[in-house]
Order: sequence, then C-alpha cells, then structure tokens
Amino acid sequence: MNFRYKFKKGTLKAGAAFVCAAILLSVSIPAFADIYTQEIPPLTDVECAQCHVPVYADLKERGGAHQMGCRECHATFHNFRRSLTWEERVPGCQECHGTPHGEQDPMGTCLVCHTNSHAPATSLSSAELEPYCSQCHQSQTAQLNNPSAHTDMGCVGCHAGAHGYVPDCTECHVEPHNPFKSNAACTSCHPVHDVSGLNYGTHIENEGCSYCHSTQAQDLGAGHLAHSMLNCTFCHAGTHGKVPTCQECHNTPHTSEMLEEFSGCADCHGNAHNLLPGY
Ligand code: HEC
Ligand code: HEC
Ligand code: HEC
Ligand code: HEC
Ligand code: HEC
Ligand code: HEC
Ligand code: HEC
Ligand code: HEC
Ligand code: HEC
Ligand code: HEC
Ligand code: HEC
Ligand code: HEC
Repeated sequence: MNFRYKFKKGTLKAGAAFVCAAILLSVSIPAFADIYTQEIPPLTDVECAQCHVPVYADLKERGGAHQMGCRECHATFHNFRRSLTWEERVPGCQECHGTPHGEQDPMGTCLVCHTNSHAPATSLSSAELEPYCSQCHQSQTAQLNNPSAHTDMGCVGCHAGAHGYVPDCTECHVEPHNPFKSNAACTSCHPVHDVSGLNYGTHIENEGCSYCHSTQAQDLGAGHLAHSMLNCTFCHAGTHGKVPTCQECHNTPHTSEMLEEFSGCADCHGNAHNLLPGY
C-alpha cells in the first residue's frame, strides 16, 4: 500500500513537473526568444493619446495648425536615460520655425509667450504678453504714451484675454454721445490710442456731427444748393471747431466795388449751411 502510494505520489509530482515544463517550453520560452525576431509595430497616435490624455485634449480642442501626427514632431521620445536634458527629449520650435519674430530678447524663447506647445496660437494670452506688446506694436505704443485719458489703462486694460481681442467702445462708454455703430465709426473721430486729439479726415459722416450740432445739420439737409452736397469736414477741415471764411474757397467772385456796399456775403447768400436761393 505504502509503496503504491509513494509510487503514485512520485508519479503525480513527476507528472506535474512535466506539465509545467511543457507549458514553459511550448509557450513562454519560444516567446522570449521570438520578441527579438519579431517586427514591433510602432505605437499609433491613438495609443499615444491613450496615455497622454491632456496633450491629446489640447491638440484636439485648440491645437490649431499643430494638429499633426505626434511623430511628425516627436521623432524620438521615451528615451529615459538620465543623462538626457529636456531639450534632448523633445523637439525645439526653432527646428521647424526658425526665429519668426527676430532675435531681440525674449523672441528666441518661444514658450514665454506660446505657453502651450500643443496649442501654440490659442495659448497666447495678453497677461503673459503684456511686457512685450511694444516690441511688435510700436506705433500704438507711441500713441498711447502721448498723455491722454486712455494712457494709464495700459494695453491689457482694453486688450484683455486672448491675444488680439478688441473691445467695443461701449464696454466702457455706456452712453456715448453718438449712437454706437462700430469702433471704426467712433475712431473716425477719436484715435483710440490717443484720445487727446480728434481725427478730422473728410471721411467722417455728417451724422457723426449732427448729434451735437443739430441746427447746422438740419439746415444743411434742408438746403438744395451745392453746399448741401458737401461733407461737414470738407469745410470744417483739419481740427474740430475750425470755421472757414467763404473766401478760402471762393476767392473774390464779385468786384470789390460791389462788396464794399454790403456787410458780407451773408447779406445776399444767407447762411453757409442753407444758402439762399435766387441770389
Ligand atoms: C503606455 C503609456 C504611454 C504611451 C502609449 C505613450 N507614452 Fe509617452 N510617456 C509615458 C510616460 C509614463 C511618460 C513619462 C512621463 C513623465 O516622466 O512624467 C511619457 C513621456 C513622454 C514624453 C516626454 C519626453 C520624454 O521622452 O521623456 C513624450 C514626448 C512622449 N511621452 C511622447 C509619446 C508619444 C509621441 C507617444 C506615441 C507615439 C507616446 N508618448 C506613447 C507614457 C506613454
Ligand atoms: C507640432 C509639433 C508637435 C506635435 C504635433 C506634438 N507635439 Fe508633443 N511636444 C512638442 C514640443 C515642441 C514639446 C516640448 C515642449 C516643452 O519644451 O515644454 C512637446 C512636448 C510633449 C510632451 C511632454 C510635455 C507635456 O506637455 O506633457 C508630451 C508628453 C508630448 N509632447 C506628447 C505628444 C503627443 C502624445 C502628441 C500627439 C497626440 C504630440 N505630443 C504632438 C511638439 C509637438
Ligand atoms: C516638427 C515641426 C514643428 C515643430 C517642432 C513646431 N512646429 Fe509650429 N507649426 C508647424 C507647422 C507645419 C505649422 C503649420 C504651418 C505653419 O504655420 O508654418 C505650425 C504652426 C505653428 C503656429 C501657427 C498656429 C496656428 O494655429 O495658426 C504657431 C504659433 C507655431 N507653430 C508655434 C510653434 C511653437 C511655439 C513651437 C515650439 C513649442 C512649434 N511651433 C514647434 C511645425 C512645427
Ligand atoms: C514675446 C512673445 C512671443 C515670443 C517670445 C514668441 N512669439 Fe511667436 N507669436 C507671438 C504672437 C503675439 C503671435 C501672434 C501674431 C499673429 O497673430 O500673427 C505669434 C505668432 C507666431 C507664429 C504664427 C504666425 C506666423 O508668423 O506664421 C509662429 C509660427 C510663431 N509665433 C512661432 C514662434 C517661435 C518659433 C518662437 C520662438 C523662436 C516664438 N514664436 C516666440 C508672440 C511671441
Ligand atoms: C511677437 C509679436 C507680437 C506681440 C508680442 C504682440 N503682438 Fe499683437 N499682433 C502681432 C501680429 C503679427 C498681429 C497681426 C497683425 C495683423 O493681422 O495685421 C497682431 C495683432 C494684434 C491685434 C489686432 C487684432 C485684430 O483683430 O486686428 C491686437 C489688438 C493686438 N495684436 C494687441 C496686442 C497686445 C495688447 C499685445 C501685448 C499684450 C500684443 N498684441 C503683443 C504681433 C504681436
Ligand atoms: C482704451 C482702450 C484701448 C487701449 C488702452 C489700447 N487699445 Fe488697442 N485698440 C483698441 C480698440 C477699440 C481698437 C480697435 C480700433 C478700431 O477698430 O478702429 C484697438 C486696435 C488695436 C490694434 C489693431 C490695429 C489698430 O491700430 O487698429 C492693435 C495692434 C492694438 N490696438 C494694440 C494696442 C497696444 C499695443 C496697446 C498698448 C500700447 C493698446 N492697443 C491699447 C482699444 C485700446
Ligand atoms: C476698457 C475701457 C475703455 C474702452 C474699451 C474705451 N475707453 Fe475711452 N475711456 C475710458 C476711461 C476710463 C476714460 C477716462 C474717464 C472718462 O472720461 O470716462 C476714457 C475716456 C475717453 C474719452 C475722453 C477723452 C478726454 O480727454 O476727455 C474719449 C473721447 C474716449 N474715451 C473714447 C473712446 C473710444 C472712441 C473708444 C473705442 C474706440 C473707447 N474710448 C474705448 C475707458 C475705455
Ligand atoms: C464726428 C466726430 C465724432 C464721432 C463719430 C464720435 N465722437 Fe465722441 N466726441 C466728439 C467731439 C467733438 C467730442 C467733444 C470734444 C470736446 O468737448 O472738445 C467728443 C467727446 C467724446 C467723449 C468725452 C465726452 C463725453 O461725452 O463723455 C467720449 C467718451 C466720446 N466722445 C466717445 C465717443 C464714442 C464711444 C463714439 C462712438 C459711438 C464717439 N465718441 C463718436 C466727436 C466725435
Ligand atoms: C460749405 C462749407 C460748409 C459746410 C458743408 C458746413 N459748414 Fe459749418 N460753417 C461754414 C462756415 C463758412 C461757417 C461760418 C458761419 C457762416 O458764415 O455761416 C460755419 C459755421 C459753423 C458752426 C458755427 C455756428 C454757426 O452756425 O455759425 C458750426 C457749429 C458748424 N458750422 C457746423 C457744421 C456742421 C455740423 C456741418 C455739417 C452738418 C457743417 N457745419 C457744414 C461752412 C460750412
Ligand atoms: C460730442 C459733441 C460734438 C460733436 C460730435 C461735434 N462737436 Fe463740434 N463742437 C462741440 C462743442 C461742445 C463745441 C464748442 C461749442 C461752442 O464753443 O459753442 C463745438 C464747436 C464746433 C465748431 C466751432 C463753433 C464756433 O462757434 O466756433 C465747429 C465749426 C464744429 N464744432 C464743427 C463740428 C463738426 C464739423 C463736427 C463733426 C465732424 C463736430 N463739430 C462734432 C461738440 C461737438
Ligand atoms: C471749404 C470750401 C467752401 C467754403 C468755405 C464755402 N464754399 Fe461755397 N461752395 C463750395 C463748393 C465746393 C461749391 C460747389 C462748387 C462750386 O460751385 O464751386 C460751392 C458753391 C457755392 C455757391 C453756388 C451754389 C450753387 O448751388 O450754385 C455759392 C453761392 C457759395 N458757394 C457761396 C458761399 C458762401 C457765401 C460761403 C461763405 C458763407 C461759402 N460759399 C463758403 C465750397 C465752399
Ligand atoms: C449784393 C449781393 C451779393 C453779395 C454781397 C455777394 N454775392 Fe455772391 N452772388 C450774388 C449773385 C446775384 C450771384 C449770382 C450771379 C452771378 O453768377 O454772378 C452770386 C454768385 C455767387 C457765386 C456763384 C458763382 C458762380 O460762378 O456760380 C459765389 C461762389 C458767390 N456768389 C460767392 C460770394 C461770396 C464768397 C461773397 C462774399 C465775399 C458774395 N458772393 C457776396 C450776390 C451777392
């Protein structure tokens, strides 16, 4: 009995060992050998995204022109040798772009402004850019530096949020004296970066003046002689409040003998805004 039992136990042990060996031989051992002969398929972009979830989300939601395959930029990656610096692990912007804004400091340090390499355009925020506006927008800076009611606000007082945001004047001037149509309509008179002065080009619509000078506008509109076709700023050119004389445009249409007898052109022609007919 004992012998038989022992024999059986021995057989069982031997059998189990055989099975284990067989499994190892048939499955594991050939596989370990195989990995070095197989073609290992590269990770797909979807697989990169499965681990690098936030990077993928940035590219998907606001990546703009950087929505390219991961490998188009990351030719090498996951080299975790300690001696490598960060710059050796990731691509450099300049490899593809050079220095598009010139060499002046900080233009070579791209991530100062483009704070997210996977959302390079949409990560430009005015707060980060504020110290550098003047390097790219010299004319607006020069204008704002000229003391005016807008000077103390600084660029980001108006251009907040994402780079390029432009506020409407009515965000701050709730009830402007003119009905608000567009910034362009307001800036036709008020140069926004220097409100100490007024623009007086000939392109200003008469409507813009009529809100404050309704009498003159009504008169001009009611007239039917040549003046009624003219722009307010054609005659009141240059600076606000300038009043021309008739002679500036008409020289002396009549003989001086005739004019001596009258107090002025208005005696016969009436008001500049509403010339009398039948002169
Ligand atoms: C199984 C998860 C996983 C997959 C798949 C994966 N990564 Fe990574 N990756 C990591 C981990 C973990 C790190 C190290 C993170 C750390 O150090 O904070 C890392 C680091 C990186 C870095 C940082 C720089 C470096 O090399 O150390 C880059 C770039 C990178 N991965 C790119 C990729 C790209 C491209 C793919 C697809 C081709 C990819 N990864 C696929 C997990 C993954
Ligand atoms: C247009 C080029 C470009 C593309 C496309 C791109 N990357 Fe990057 N990536 C970069 C650059 C440049 C950096 C280095 C930024 C830095 O120095 O901080 C970087 C950094 C990283 C890092 C490390 C820093 C971090 O933000 O976590 C990871 C991880 C990474 N990329 C993964 C990916 C994955 C995954 C994809 C594809 C889904 C991808 N990248 C696509 C250019 C790119
Ligand atoms: C492997 C090449 C490559 C690398 C590295 C790279 N870019 Fe780009 N980038 C491109 C391409 C291609 C475009 C699209 C065409 C173009 O505008 O030149 C682009 C577009 C852009 C744009 C315009 C984005 C838009 O949506 O209009 C910005 C800004 C930009 N890159 C900044 C960066 C910055 C900052 C870095 C480093 C963090 C960087 N790039 C790294 C290839 C690259
Ligand atoms: C001082 C801030 C700042 C720095 C530093 C900076 N950029 Fe820009 N970059 C901007 C701003 C602002 C824009 C948006 C201008 C526009 O809308 O065209 C821009 C636009 C771009 C564009 C898209 C427009 C174009 O010219 O094609 C690219 C590409 C770009 N930057 C690449 C770079 C690279 C590469 C670096 C580093 C060598 C860099 N930038 C450094 C602020 C910066
Ligand atoms: C690296 C150069 C650079 C820097 C720094 C920069 N800008 Fe710009 N910005 C540009 C370029 C280029 C444009 C595009 C000009 C164009 O489209 O004519 C632009 C356009 C703009 C626009 C006009 C958007 C539109 O719709 O017309 C505003 C407003 C603006 N920038 C404000 C700012 C302010 C405010 C700052 C600082 C917080 C700043 N920028 C910093 C280069 C820059
Ligand atoms: C009081 C508000 C305000 C301030 C302060 C301000 N801006 Fe503007 N900016 C505007 C408005 C409004 C426009 C749009 C004008 C239009 O549509 O005619 C504009 C337009 C611009 C433009 C587009 C091109 C142009 O001139 O129309 C740029 C660039 C710009 N601003 C840059 C700047 C910079 C740089 C600063 C700081 C030096 C600055 N702005 C300060 C309100 C402001
Ligand atoms: C972000 C707020 C803001 C925006 C946007 C803004 N302004 Fe102003 N503006 C002010 C402040 C503040 C003052 C000074 C106090 C006051 O007069 O209300 C001012 C003053 C003025 C003045 C009076 C100048 C003086 O010397 O008395 C004019 C004119 C003016 N703004 C025109 C404009 C026009 C036109 C726009 C749009 C193109 C505009 N503003 C956009 C805030 C703003
Ligand atoms: C036709 C030219 C013209 C247009 C267009 C115009 N303004 Fe004026 N604005 C003036 C004149 C002139 C004054 C008065 C200046 C003075 O008192 O010396 C003035 C004064 C102002 C003032 C300061 C006094 C006040 O009323 O608080 C603000 C603010 C102002 N304008 C904002 C605007 C806004 C916003 C717009 C666009 C809706 C606009 N203006 C359109 C000519 C114009
Ligand atoms: C043909 C040229 C001409 C045109 C167009 C014109 N004006 Fe005049 N304006 C004058 C002259 C000249 C005077 C001086 C008074 C006079 O001789 O009648 C004057 C005077 C004024 C005065 C001073 C007060 C007054 O009535 O004497 C104001 C205000 C005025 N104009 C506003 C306007 C406005 C607003 C418009 C557009 C609706 C306008 N003007 C169109 C030539 C013109
Ligand atoms: C915001 C209101 C406002 C707007 C808009 C405005 N003005 Fe005036 N204007 C005034 C004020 C206030 C005076 C000074 C009033 C005075 O001295 O009787 C004035 C004075 C004048 C004068 C001189 C009047 C005199 O008797 O010497 C002329 C001319 C004039 N404006 C023309 C214009 C023209 C042309 C426009 C449109 C391009 C215009 N104004 C837009 C408010 C405005
Ligand atoms: C800024 C220039 C300018 C000023 C100032 C000006 N005019 Fe005129 N006037 C014109 C123009 C332009 C015409 C139409 C073309 C022409 O006949 O020469 C005109 C036409 C006239 C005509 C002919 C009207 C017709 O329908 O045939 C008379 C009369 C006249 N002006 C009188 C005056 C008197 C009076 C004044 C002063 C109160 C005056 N003008 C101030 C530019 C001006
Ligand atoms: C005694 C009245 C009288 C006075 C004063 C007078 N005019 Fe006239 N004006 C006329 C008459 C009448 C005509 C039309 C007959 C003609 O074409 O000669 C006329 C015509 C004009 C014409 C149109 C000429 C053309 O070729 O169409 C202009 C311009 C003009 N006057 C400007 C003026 C100016 C400027 C003054 C002041 C320096 C002035 N007038 C003073 C009576 C007058």
